[in-house]
Amino acid sequence: MRQIWIDCDPGHDDAMAILTACAHPEKLHILGISTVGGNQTLHKVTQNAKNVLRFIGADIPLAMGQQGPLVKPLNTAPEAHGESGMDGPYFGDGDYPLASENAVVYIYRQIMACPDKVTLVALAPLTNIALLLRTFPEVCGRIDCISMMGGGISHGNCTPLAEFNIYADPEAAHIVFHSGVPIVMSGLDVTEQATVTVAQIGSLQNRGRVSHLAYELLHFYNESGRQFGFTDSPVHDLCAVAWLLAPEIFRGSRRFVDVSTDEGASRGQTFADCRPVPAHPANALVLEGVDRERFSALLLDALARLDRGYHAGG
Ligand code: BDR
Ligand code: CA
Repeated sequence: MRQIWIDCDPGHDDAMAILTACAHPEKLHILGISTVGGNQTLHKVTQNAKNVLRFIGADIPLAMGQQGPLVKPLNTAPEAHGESGMDGPYFGDGDYPLASENAVVYIYRQIMACPDKVTLVALAPLTNIALLLRTFPEVCGRIDCISMMGGGISHGNCTPLAEFNIYADPEAAHIVFHSGVPIVMSGLDVTEQATVTVAQIGSLQNRGRVSHLAYELLHFYNESGRQFGFTDSPVHDLCAVAWLLAPEIFRGSRRFVDVSTDEGASRGQTFADCRPVPAHPANALVLEGVDRERFSALLLDALARLDRGYHAGG
C-alpha cells in the first residue's frame, strides 16, 4: 500500500486525478490533500476540492496552502478551467472540513507521523512543496518520490517553452528539482498523449453518479481545450496518479532536469541534459509516452468503481 499526499489546484484534470486515486484504496492510501493558488485563486480551488470530496462522501483531510507563487503574483487560467476554476457542474450547497493549519505545516506533520515513506503527488504550481522541502529539510528523507505533473522537455503550453504549473512558480520548481528527492515528471511530452476522446466523454453521461459528474467536468474542459488545438482532451494531472497505479503503461528516461528562472523567453522552461555523459546524475524519470487506450480505460474504470460507491478502506 502506497501512502500518498496530493497537492492540487482543481482544475478539471486535478479532479480526475483525485477521483482516480480515491477509486483505488487497495493500492493508494490518501493521507491528505492540499490546495495551492494556480488554475484559480486559492479560495476557489479549495472550494472545488471540497466539492469533489463532498460529492463522493470522502473523509480525507484537506488543508489549504499558499495563495500564490514564491516571488511573482499569481496568474490564473480561466481560459482553460473557467471562472470557478472547475466550471461545468453545479454542486449546490454544503461544506467539507478544512484543517486549521496551513498545508505546509500540516503536510510536514502528517509525513513525519507516517511510519512509511510518503509519495507526494503534485498537480499544481510547486509552491507548497518547495516551502515544505525548504522549511523542513528533514522531510526529504521521508518522501520516496514526487510524482508530478509539470513541465515539458520538448515544448510548453503557457509559453512556447514553459508549461503552466512550472511557469506559474519557476522558483518553487527550481527548489523541488534541486531538492534531491526523486521525481517522476509527467510533462507535456506524455500528458498531451494522455487523452480521453470526445466519444469516451459522451459515454460517461448516463452511466452513474460519479461518471456523470466527470462527464459534466470533461465536457466543459473539452470545449475549452479546442481553443488550444485539442479535439480530444489531455487529462494532464491524471498521469501523475496513473503512473502510481500502472507504471507499465508508461515509458520514460532518467534525466537531469533543470528549471529556468530567467526573466526572458525561457522563464519556466524545464530542460533535460540529454548528452551521452550528462554533467549531473539524473534527478527525474521523465515520462515520454503512454498507452492511451489503457490510460483512458483506467479513468473510466475508476469512475465506474466510484459509481458503485466510495469505500476508503478498500
Ligand atoms: C496543468 O495546468 C493546469 O491548468 C492543469 O490543471 C495541469 O495541472 C497543465 O499544464
Ligand atoms: Ca492542476
